Amino acid sequence: MTAFESTDLGLQFPPDFIWGVATSSFQIEGAAVEDGKGRSIWDSFCRVPDAIADQSDGDIACDHYHRWAEDLNLIASLGVDAYRFSVSWPRVRPTGAGRWNEKGLDFYERLVDGLLVRGVKPYLTLNHWDLPDELQSSGGWANRDTVHRFVEYALGMHDRLGDRVAAITTHNEPWVMAMLGHETGVFAPGLKDRAIAMQVAHHLMLSHGLALQALRAQGCKAKLGIVLNLSPVHPATDAPADLAKAQLEDGRLLRWYMDPLFKSAYPQDVIEFLGLDAPRIEVGDLQAIATPMDFLGINYYSRSVASAAEPWDVHRSGREVTDMGWEIYPEGLTELLLRLHQDYPVPPLYVTENGGAFKDQLINGRIRDTQRTDYIARHIVAVAEAMRQGVRMEGYMVWSLLDNFEWASGYEKRFGIVHVDYASQLRTPKDSALWYRDFLQRQRAQRDAAATGA
Ligand code: FCB
Repeated sequence: MTAFESTDLGLQFPPDFIWGVATSSFQIEGAAVEDGKGRSIWDSFCRVPDAIADQSDGDIACDHYHRWAEDLNLIASLGVDAYRFSVSWPRVRPTGAGRWNEKGLDFYERLVDGLLVRGVKPYLTLNHWDLPDELQSSGGWANRDTVHRFVEYALGMHDRLGDRVAAITTHNEPWVMAMLGHETGVFAPGLKDRAIAMQVAHHLMLSHGLALQALRAQGCKAKLGIVLNLSPVHPATDAPADLAKAQLEDGRLLRWYMDPLFKSAYPQDVIEFLGLDAPRIEVGDLQAIATPMDFLGINYYSRSVASAAEPWDVHRSGREVTDMGWEIYPEGLTELLLRLHQDYPVPPLYVTENGGAFKDQLINGRIRDTQRTDYIARHIVAVAEAMRQGVRMEGYMVWSLLDNFEWASGYEKRFGIVHVDYASQLRTPKDSALWYRDFLQRQRAQRDAAATGA
């Protein structure tokens, strides 16, 4: 029997466990130049020839800016506790500094109030990659001034929405912004310079810590945290060169972010590897980054395999891969959560993203996406296993509510549990969405039965 055939997976999560779905602004909103929105670095990057696999952009995306009410109804129909979304910084403050855009702020007011009336907790992310383009012209995240602009932005959003959101996440996946945006250049802003990438990583972390301090000083009641993309890094073989490579990659992916957050230090082996490419760090920066958090979000999709000699061929393990070519490796999530719990004094953890891209077929209005359901179910089991072994977990969120603009892959890769027909903008819940809804219903029924002693 595959996991998804059992609706409740035989699991009972704690009554206050938060189940959610996630999206991000650039990937769904569209309305790229509407109501005074400024351009983001992703608006510009989409105009670079061949940057996006299908030459697409985020101009319309899922048209969520106009269809938000319908989308909130969809979210509510799933019976989730929370919706994780991000604010487009250039929509609310078009050039990243100076004038705020009332119409943009109003949109997020509508969204947050719309969630609350539907009984869904808003989990707001400040930075899911769409930096105002204007800030990029003065160096973007490589420029230390951007750190201060980000703190202003965090405070501005708190002024408007801080009384109604359940949680505020500073950044989504600093590793991706720094490395894919500035070292390999496959994501916006498309730079290829290791020293810049590491300076960007440092400024992202610094802005996270300073924003937390500023928000707390304003009496922020929402839970505060950051979201990291983490994976176990396994050596391809036991050869010393592979072991060394895995150690370094673990340093660059996981310890580079976890150590400053929880140990006020960057990992020494990575600093040595970087040499002259190591970032400039000012006195007090590391203390700021280690400002205590209320939660830590983890985005998990697959493990990583390190091989010194040649790039790792994902098919070598014989496991299934998703349409992204990512190996399906649910036990890596248990391994990762246990490791974080053992190695660091972590606050409660969330899986803030987990899901799979698969080739869907819409037949007679139905999408039988059994692979996606199986993927999600197996990762929920992996979370339960980590909890059984003592990890403090507060929530799990599926990536993604909707099929959407999957960055450099454009619209070709579909992660949604709800299908989007981009021509008509028709939304159709896939079988995975119905499974998730039923699973959550069963969880709630068990929860209620336990509460009434039935
Ligand atoms: C993560 C991103 C998210 C989505 C998934 C598939 O890295 O945070 O926006 O693209 O990958």
